[in-house]
Amino acid sequence: MADDERTDTSSHQPVLLREVVLHLDPRPGGLIIDGTLGAGGHAAALLDATAPDGRLLGFDRDPAALAYAAQRLAPFGDRLTAVAGSYGDMAAVAPAQGFDAVDGILLDLGLSSRQLDDAGRGFSFLKEGPLDMRFDPRDGETAADLINNASTEELADIFRRYGEEQQSRRIARLIVANRPLLTTTDLAGLIAREIGGRHGRAGRHPATKVFQALRIAVNNELGEVERGLRAAVGLLRPGGRLAIISFHSLEDRLVKQFFRQASRECICPPQQPICTCGARAVLRPVTRKAIQATPEEIAANPRSRSARLRVAARTEHEATEDWK
Ligand SMILES: C[S@@+](CC[C@H](N)C(=O)[O-])C[C@H]1O[C@@H](n2cnc3c(N)ncnc32)[C@H](O)[C@@H]1O
Repeated sequence: MADDERTDTSSHQPVLLREVVLHLDPRPGGLIIDGTLGAGGHAAALLDATAPDGRLLGFDRDPAALAYAAQRLAPFGDRLTAVAGSYGDMAAVAPAQGFDAVDGILLDLGLSSRQLDDAGRGFSFLKEGPLDMRFDPRDGETAADLINNASTEELADIFRRYGEEQQSRRIARLIVANRPLLTTTDLAGLIAREIGGRHGRAGRHPATKVFQALRIAVNNELGEVERGLRAAVGLLRPGGRLAIISFHSLEDRLVKQFFRQASRECICPPQQPICTCGARAVLRPVTRKAIQATPEEIAANPRSRSARLRVAARTEHEATEDWK
């Protein structure tokens, strides 16, 4: 469907769109869950592909993103159900909306360009704004709460675990010595001044990993991915597809390990000679390796450079409690 509003990609271009549609393989009448509606780009394509009567259940934790997507996707009428909340809760929410035994589930992780570009959300180290970084600005601790109250050890742990930042302790000590830090540019400026200018092959800003780590911690992103993956196993019909797009190695590793474990016929410890777990594979990999954007897509949308798409299909084996 070529509708100006729904095909407008000026604010957030859906990454790996063709590949997502190809591998999720949506059919007319299909039931799809989009756990991360964002600006609704993938959702619009999936609604097109499931026309005339397929339905899509979309989640977003960010009420502003949800409102934008709902407006953009309004021409699809009641084929769209938009829910404010985390995809991590979909095991409870989806069946109540008539979405169980679904045909496809998509998680396009991380944040959208709209969120990054909005200085008031505090996601960007290039734009001055409050250190917020919550996907849902009505809920939980902000990044400022975190960096102004956590101990040096806690901050160093966050930067190391969620940013893989090699100078985590040094940066944590620096922050604690210079508190309070209230704006994105206070924090980014401090790190740039004291830790150094742009570094690395990619010429990344020295605050890149710290910002990533804070965002992941504030939103418990990896915990939600884990909950979302488990919920997806319970909600897909046999043969239904699960597609995950990740943007950094921590997410991609988690997805890869989950797919690998869920594809094993036995989850007993390797040293155990005889299988006693009785586990059967609940997923079958559809893509052998992660799919990456083509050079053409990267040229048109630089954000796609770090995207990795992995797809798996639900097997017919019943999911034991381990997968829920
Ligand atoms: C990369 S964008 C999705 C873009 C979307 N696929 C599109 O085509 O426009 C990620 C979105 O996921 C949302 N999000 C992040 N974590 C979430 C969670 N746990 N549950 C629901 N939405 C989440 C963010 O608010 C953001 O809007």
